[in-house]
Amino acid sequence: MLKYPAKSKFYILKKIIKNLSRYLPMHHKYNLIDTLKNVSNIIFSETASYGELQKVLSKWRESLELYHKLDMNLPEYNENVYLEEGKALATRWAALCIEDLIRTKRFVRAVKKAVDTVLGKQKGRPATIMYVGTGPFATLVLPLTQLFSPSELQLDLIEVNTESFKLLNNTIEIYGIQDYIRNCYCTDATQFRVENHDVDILLVECLQQALAREPQVKIVENLVPQLSDDLVLIPENITLSVALVNTKQQQSFVLNLDSKKTIEFYEIMDSVFSINKEVIQKNSIQYESPVYMFKDEQLREYNRISIFTEMKLYEDEVLTYNESGLTIPWDVTDFTSEAPVYGVRTRYVTGIDPQLEIKLIRTR
Ligand SMILES: C[S@@+](CC[C@H](N)C(=O)[O-])C[C@H]1O[C@@H](n2cnc3c(N)ncnc32)[C@H](O)[C@@H]1O
Repeated sequence: MLKYPAKSKFYILKKIIKNLSRYLPMHHKYNLIDTLKNVSNIIFSETASYGELQKVLSKWRESLELYHKLDMNLPEYNENVYLEEGKALATRWAALCIEDLIRTKRFVRAVKKAVDTVLGKQKGRPATIMYVGTGPFATLVLPLTQLFSPSELQLDLIEVNTESFKLLNNTIEIYGIQDYIRNCYCTDATQFRVENHDVDILLVECLQQALAREPQVKIVENLVPQLSDDLVLIPENITLSVALVNTKQQQSFVLNLDSKKTIEFYEIMDSVFSINKEVIQKNSIQYESPVYMFKDEQLREYNRISIFTEMKLYEDEVLTYNESGLTIPWDVTDFTSEAPVYGVRTRYVTGIDPQLEIKLIRTR
């Protein structure tokens, strides 16, 4: 039997560890890229199940956090950034957005369709996306690097949270996608002056349900007028509507397992606020709604006022009622026959706490 002196045993062990540690990050990197390929396959598959989407997106987030050696409990990843025009999410919560499954899938598909349209129109020139609010992982464009080459796709990335921005730069490095990045800014997009105006697609995802708290509206108001008229804005249109809800029927809807049985539990009154490229370009955003008065039968049938959010992302890619954290209804108030609400009037306000203000009309 071959025997090593103690010193050389130690030497061999050290060599093995050194080689392993060199191999492990490489191995992990291959896993990351394989995972991203799977993400892209599932998102663009017409047959993949909800379960498959859930599995692949959770794995993607976990693999990114592992690779970055992230401890999301650290205080720096838990601090929101408070801007003049709203709140920018802490890194931890921005990272978690990946797992808002239908949101992620529909947004990525919408962006791909918009890139295809732009490339179809301008042969020989790349489609340039300005992506605002990338979070740490640039979730909504990263899968596209598996489908397009840098000569087809160029990115201007904007993120205001410095911790997310640092991680964003690591993300670019670990995927080796530097050739896709035209510009990468750590700045507040509500104030940003555009340097390269030849942007084809403006993708902004800095919002919550009912366009509350985050600065989506102010960002698009600032950037759209600085870019070309035929810009594609994603989401193309976001609409807030006043809806009346019957909460008992809603309960039956939630518990209903019979897919053939339809349970109606709400009625959308009217849209009260919309943000899209056209209203910005025409300077005709309607911040205030008219007064909506409810009919007597509506007061009898329903007992809750909610704000519904709907989004047309691009062409047929939409997000509607409850499909995502962004379109969960925002419950305003419950009313009874003893304390009725006869109507509402709304006003969208921007500033440090953007939101839809609602005035309840309690007398006729
Ligand atoms: C809801 S998260 C979305 C993260 C990412 N888009 C995703 O899909 O996973 C919104 C991101 O926008 C960033 N943000 C918010 N306001 C911003 C602003 N005014 N300028 C630049 N980035 C902003 C936040 O810091 C946060 O990372």
